[in-house]
Amino acid sequence: LTVDWDAGHYDTGGYEHYLLKEISDQPESVARTLRGRLDDRFHIAHLGGLNLDPRETRAFRRVKIIGCGSAYYAGQIGAQLIEELARIPADAEPASEFRYRSPVVEHDTLYVAVSQSGETYDTLAAVQELKRKGGRVLGVVNAVGSAIAREVDGGVYLHAGPEVSVASTKAFTSTAVAFALMALHFGRVHDLSPADGRRIVEGLRRLPEQIQAIVDQDDTIAELARKYAPHPSMMFVGRVRGYPVAREGAQKLKEISYVHAEAYPASELKHGPLALIGPDMPTVAIVPDDELLDKNLTTLGEIRARGGKVLMIGHREPDARLAEDVIVVPKNEVELDPILLSIPLQVFAYHAAVALDRDVDKPRNLAKSVTVE
Ligand code: G6P
Repeated sequence: LTVDWDAGHYDTGGYEHYLLKEISDQPESVARTLRGRLDDRFHIAHLGGLNLDPRETRAFRRVKIIGCGSAYYAGQIGAQLIEELARIPADAEPASEFRYRSPVVEHDTLYVAVSQSGETYDTLAAVQELKRKGGRVLGVVNAVGSAIAREVDGGVYLHAGPEVSVASTKAFTSTAVAFALMALHFGRVHDLSPADGRRIVEGLRRLPEQIQAIVDQDDTIAELARKYAPHPSMMFVGRVRGYPVAREGAQKLKEISYVHAEAYPASELKHGPLALIGPDMPTVAIVPDDELLDKNLTTLGEIRARGGKVLMIGHREPDARLAEDVIVVPKNEVELDPILLSIPLQVFAYHAAVALDRDVDKPRNLAKSVTVE
């Protein structure tokens, strides 16, 4: 069962669809998520709503993030950020799985529930189960005063503004940004150096302008979307930081264009899915300029050797033999790159859906918020 979709009184602001409006709104929505939270003196993030003092923050040995759909994928980016910047073991799991497997709730694990609407039933039920067992739960939520926001012990509001289109874009991005703030905060309470803190603060400040530069590539990305949309199926691959980006990219394409898309860690291709690669199955490869660049370029070579087309999302043009098409995005600090690499995939999915004449804002069988089991 799902709830009805209701655009309420928000209009599309001159855009053809809410989705395009929400994608285009991201320089502002990300700026709102960051507003008042960056500290240039101590190179830390101020997140008063966490309700954790430094001693409590240091006592957690693990972070477990739960959410559904895009919230879960944003949580996966968040887990990597927390592990990298704060060196606290962290992982993400679908809230629906978590609640049904009778999880062991540990007192030194910090639980974080992610939800744009704050009303997703599976996530709410997981939070209630955690609370019942005495777990400390934070929320990363967009809708102020929502059920999950009321249930948790503290958290971070996204301030992304209302999101009407069923497929999440600006809330996804703001969630990843909120996790970057949380990771910076935890990192500086733990062992992240002031210099690294400053590097992340400055990187976060650059995001709105860099997102704008990606949104401005709309025409180029639209052309690529029209080229790839007729394929029945697409593969999305990425390594480590690129993997949640690939998963969310595949999710967006599936949700709104109904093109079958699968996401795999790039290193897992050779353990099975490489058998699918050929002229009919193009691959979108997330290839950031990081320490895994060479490994990723090797993967592109393996795909090309099997006759597969490659659309690369990265920071520079590779050897023309490795990728037929490339979308170049602005470079930030490596830890923050996933936030920017996700944006062109939203634009790509949007234009693929338009090219296939889909109901972009209200895809079949889906609801904005699933408030029942
Ligand atoms: C639904 C929507 C997804 C969304 C998920 C979680 O399935 O179709 O786009 O990611 O719910 O929603 P939430 O409001 O909890 O972030």
